Amino acid sequence: MAEARRIDGKAAAARIIENVTAETAALTAKTGTVPGLAVVIVGEDPASQVYVGSKAKTATACGFKSIKHELPAETSEATLLKVVRDLNEDAEVHGILVQLPLPEHVDEAKVIQTIDPDKDVDGFHLINVGRLSTGDTAAAFVPCTPAGSMLLIREVLGDDLSGKNAVVVGRSNIVGKPMAQLLLAANATVTIAHSRTKDLPGVCRGADILVAAVGRPEMLTGDYVKDGAVVIDVGINRIEAPEKGLKEDGTPKTKLVGDVNYEEAARKAAAITPVPGGVGPMTIAMLMANTLRSACRSAG
Ligand code: GUN
Repeated sequence: MAEARRIDGKAAAARIIENVTAETAALTAKTGTVPGLAVVIVGEDPASQVYVGSKAKTATACGFKSIKHELPAETSEATLLKVVRDLNEDAEVHGILVQLPLPEHVDEAKVIQTIDPDKDVDGFHLINVGRLSTGDTAAAFVPCTPAGSMLLIREVLGDDLSGKNAVVVGRSNIVGKPMAQLLLAANATVTIAHSRTKDLPGVCRGADILVAAVGRPEMLTGDYVKDGAVVIDVGINRIEAPEKGLKEDGTPKTKLVGDVNYEEAARKAAAITPVPGGVGPMTIAMLMANTLRSACRSAG
């Protein structure tokens, strides 16, 4: 096989953000509505801080009002719920995102179910989960990572996935399950595989579309990939990279890798997303698209 096409998520995300920025300017000029995105982070997890920072920065670049609530790790559940309820009531806020994971003493499900479903731009509320799983994609806010992954799949294969076998590795509520729903809605034949699946490499080798969302660095080797498959790597794992030398504190430098061994998989796949620069940028772009959609709805 020739080397796979590298699916450029960074370029696709830039196009979406360009459209969102233009549509935001038009909405604001016509109705005076400025889309408002509120992001809430509890605690100091460095990866979460980076994600939240870039969500807030992109929102501002799109012409949104960006609101950031940074709460200490020991914030009580009651205080967090009050922050969410206040944002539900705030007419200038169209999208609310509470960054996960939350500290252990907070009931994550309770916080998510407190977000107004019409401001739930993450698509995690049960109402939006229900809309997606009953096929009401017009009304649902779809979780951003699967929605972005789906757009990348469509770039390669088009809108109708009839006759395609899709395997999603990972069954999380944030990625695996909604990803499977989207593939199903596009007429693919869908398998959800996970850590307890028997002969995982064999199951994956049946996939025309292989989506990896397991959170294990480079777990899917070339042996998991069928010739000509489209491979979507959702993983973002930071690992030590001694080949890059040492940091000032004497520990090895690090690098980001996906859940797929890119070099091996690219020798078999027809198309594959890199890490970084694949699904990651699409997640943020879809968050902006969802927030604009919410603002358009509220502007009538
Ligand atoms: N943590 C990891 N991914 C996400 C996401 O898409 N949304 C939120 N709220 N938290 C996350």
